[in-house]
Amino acid sequence: MHNRRDFLTHLGLAGGAAALSLGAPGALQAAASPMFVPRPMAGAAPRRIKLLILGGTGFIGPHQVRYAVERGHEVTIFNRGRSAPGVFPGVEELTGDRATGDLKSLAGRKWDAVIDNSASRADAPMWVKDSAGLLKNAADQYLFISTRSVFSDLSKVPGTVDAPLLNKTNTPNWREGQPFPYGLAKSLAEAEVRAAFGNRSTIVRPGLIVGPGDETDRFTYWPVRIERGGEVLAPGDPHVDRIQVIDVRDLCEWAVRLCEAKTYGTFMGVGPENGRSMSEFLYGIAGSTTAPLTWTWIPREFLATQGIRPYAEMPVWRPPTPGFEGFARFDLSREVAAGLTFRSLADTTTATLAYHHGRDAARKAKLSAGATAEKEAAVLKAWHAQAR
Ligand SMILES: NC(=O)c1ccc[n+]([C@@H]2O[C@H](COP(=O)([O-])OP(=O)(O)OC[C@H]3O[C@@H](n4cnc5c(N)ncnc54)[C@H](OP(=O)(O)O)[C@@H]3O)[C@@H](O)[C@H]2O)c1
Repeated sequence: MHNRRDFLTHLGLAGGAAALSLGAPGALQAAASPMFVPRPMAGAAPRRIKLLILGGTGFIGPHQVRYAVERGHEVTIFNRGRSAPGVFPGVEELTGDRATGDLKSLAGRKWDAVIDNSASRADAPMWVKDSAGLLKNAADQYLFISTRSVFSDLSKVPGTVDAPLLNKTNTPNWREGQPFPYGLAKSLAEAEVRAAFGNRSTIVRPGLIVGPGDETDRFTYWPVRIERGGEVLAPGDPHVDRIQVIDVRDLCEWAVRLCEAKTYGTFMGVGPENGRSMSEFLYGIAGSTTAPLTWTWIPREFLATQGIRPYAEMPVWRPPTPGFEGFARFDLSREVAAGLTFRSLADTTTATLAYHHGRDAARKAKLSAGATAEKEAAVLKAWHAQAR
């Protein structure tokens, strides 16, 4: 059983012990959480860097901290100190508040690279303007974690990172004076990074980030549901609808390597190449579980009549819609050339289930996403009734 702090502590232990070469590999594995035995590293870092991580204790930051420490880097994190203060031994922790512009603890310091995770809400452009403005002469590189939601048009298949972006004039249902919606906020924040850092900017646009530590449960719904067995409602077209998500560890490890290599530019953070069909995705998850089950594929039109929406009651699934045909069909040649790698779906499934099973009983019983068992059963019953 673990709570979130235990989980982060285990990440910190695994990274810290590896970096300091404490004991034999067996001792390291004993010290770390059983679900976080460190993977063999793909190779030593080409250089040791001083890395500043804005937002080191949320979902994605801890995976960057763990990997960067394993690679021998000198890591500083910057947060308000609310989420998990002091959780990473040996990692410098600076406090401040981006919402009030309190960045005093960053002043007068130097880093090789900055990773910005925490500018994710309506005021992201202002947060980034402040932090990138302050750090432009204090760091060589600014890597901004953006999002796949910045695009205004994803009709081209395959999609590429060069697709048109949301701006203040093309954002649907937004008027000047209103809070920026998520995609527009991130698009404007990207512009602030470029304004301050120019060609020393790195922008990474993830799709759904999944895996251990994810509290949104959007991917987690599927391994948990499939592990329960029985008749599983599988949404949409098994061969046409596609999925591109990213394991949090693949994203975070690559972000650190982009800083090591001083790789600049704009990249997608989704995977794998060419994506997976919905059937490859669900059957692939089932390959890591053992409960007896059957699949009932139900088309999106019938699901709509039952109040089942893509990405909501059936998370991760987003069938192509006009203007978004390339949503889960990104060409990733640029990203792979820049060092993005992909864990197997089996690895992501197993790590996600291990994280889930470490939660307390109440949290395990109530996922944050996906249809309830009762709702799924009712839809299956309705589907079989109309088929008869
Ligand atoms: N989840 C996804 O599927 C997905 C998909 C695409 C893109 N993204 C992007 O990926 C990033 C996800 O980040 P996340 O979920 O790990 O973190 P987050 O929730 O965006 O941020 C949490 C981190 O930021 C710190 N923080 C929060 N408010 C702060 C403030 N006012 N001043 C200073 N620090 C503050 C928190 O520590 P304290 O609480 O101690 O301050 C914590 O370390 C976001 O940029 C998001 O847009 C996510």
